[in-house]
Amino acid sequence: MKLRTVLFDAYGTLFDVYSVALLAEQLYPGHGERLALIWRDKQIDYTRLCSMSGRYQPFWDLTRAGLRFAALRLNLKLDIAAEERLMNQYRHLSAFPENQAVLVELQRRGVPCGILSNGDPAMLDVAVKSAGLGELLQPLISVDSVQRYKTDPAAYALGPQRLGLPAREILFVSSNGWDAIGATWYGYTTLWVNRSGAPPEQLGTLPTRTGSSLRDVLDFFPA
Ligand code: LAC
Repeated sequence: MKLRTVLFDAYGTLFDVYSVALLAEQLYPGHGERLALIWRDKQIDYTRLCSMSGRYQPFWDLTRAGLRFAALRLNLKLDIAAEERLMNQYRHLSAFPENQAVLVELQRRGVPCGILSNGDPAMLDVAVKSAGLGELLQPLISVDSVQRYKTDPAAYALGPQRLGLPAREILFVSSNGWDAIGATWYGYTTLWVNRSGAPPEQLGTLPTRTGSSLRDVLDFFPA
């Protein structure tokens, strides 16, 4: 079976959502890592809550809501200035170091690469540009157009619709185990980039392959 293109998840896969922990640690010594973890978990939790209840709010707003919750959970005082600094940091997350070289190599091998993300279009645009990846990733597909978050099938359907290809001919790459499984269920060929050495989801489905860095995408497309 021929794979024709790659769609990447954005947050956690291309952009390091835990890189905000550094600034969080400066603002709240001793709590940075925990704040970043709760923030991320609550942000994803809220996508599911809103999607399942038919009460969509953009990912940027849910990111802010997740931060506010995390600060409350840890009893940290989140004033307007601290919130803006942390949100601004989230807007310009660090990209993982191998991204650029992998994307350049995929381009050299003639493999088109894009994004399919929960992020809203403005967030994705800034993140991709500030990581210097604007020339290498097209299209940037946001679930915002269907107002349903992954793992809703309507969100995954945007990939095949936009690219005009069956899902199995698209390699979907995510570092989020749950996202890799949702995409596998939908019908994509999938790579789970298990950066953190997490156990596989125990739901009776495995991604097509599991790797440990974005470099593992290259194995699907021989030079
Ligand atoms: C995304 C979230 C899931 O980029 O990380 O879609």
